[in-house]
Amino acid sequence: MTMTAPVPSFSILLTRRWPAEVEARLAERYAVTLRVPDAPMTRAELQAALRSHDALCPTVTDTIDADLLGVDGRRVRFIANYGVGHAHIDLGACRALGIRVSNTPDVLTDATANLAILLMLMASRRAGEGERLLRAGRWPGWAPTQLIGGDLQGRLLGILGFGRIGQAVAAKARAAFGMRIGFHARRRPEPPSQQAGADYFADLDALVAAADILSIHVPGGAETRHLIDARRLRLMKPGAILINTARGTIVDEAALAAALREGRLAAAGLDVYEREPAVEPALRALENAVLLPHLGSATLDTRIAMGLRVAANLDAFFDGLEPPDRVA
Ligand code: DGY
Repeated sequence: MTMTAPVPSFSILLTRRWPAEVEARLAERYAVTLRVPDAPMTRAELQAALRSHDALCPTVTDTIDADLLGVDGRRVRFIANYGVGHAHIDLGACRALGIRVSNTPDVLTDATANLAILLMLMASRRAGEGERLLRAGRWPGWAPTQLIGGDLQGRLLGILGFGRIGQAVAAKARAAFGMRIGFHARRRPEPPSQQAGADYFADLDALVAAADILSIHVPGGAETRHLIDARRLRLMKPGAILINTARGTIVDEAALAAALREGRLAAAGLDVYEREPAVEPALRALENAVLLPHLGSATLDTRIAMGLRVAANLDAFFDGLEPPDRVA
């Protein structure tokens, strides 16, 4: 008897390259179109993909707006996003068109929280500045007053947005450095978070003014655009530090650059930018800005887990079930 491999019945397109393990897993069930070369797709390419596949698997580098989704002859019925943040997808337009959307929560919480901690340490201990000094051959050798930074122990870490990642950062900062934790969230949380030693600030301005380090963990999108604007940056304590691993649009980058340049803030640690991959030139010129290239979830285990989470959502959708991480 001759065994024939099952013919993949659904066609999916990944807009960027994913870890090989996940691409192989998807190819077992689906007719997968991979992105070659691995660069963001143009709008015309995305529109063609919407016409020729059953599901689209985009990521943060793809803008999926109402105009794009309205393309004539659309075939895509499901958008399985590779990433937890989905501000780049117009969920309202998807709902109106009957397109389901999923994301990848949970699996990147730890990696992203670790990156926020890394930025806190780098910013408070002036690590980027020190490395640049050394690499430029300008290090004159150890000196008692050279590159003096600040400690984390006992400082108030203000967490803006107390979802999975915000809570993970709080737990790590408390356990590793003995930081005090304050947080602001739109909804007052259930008592357990307070029992865990985090103080709820109902007023965002009060948290911004009290924090020694303010770390951002709210979603992007129109609702949070410039939530940290020039006014709130002025409210921050002199010598405070701002950390952003969420979305660049939440912070007014030009106002942040001014606050850093004038020395009102000691430092900032950023992993995300308003107009990625462009970065405000004024920020790039500042020694007290630690700038990473959107590395939050960039560990191999995490990127594989994200892909497997996409696969689970695709499988559920094409089996006629509710995708476990459905957001629209
Ligand atoms: C996420 O998962 O939101 C990361 O920032 C990549 O999009």
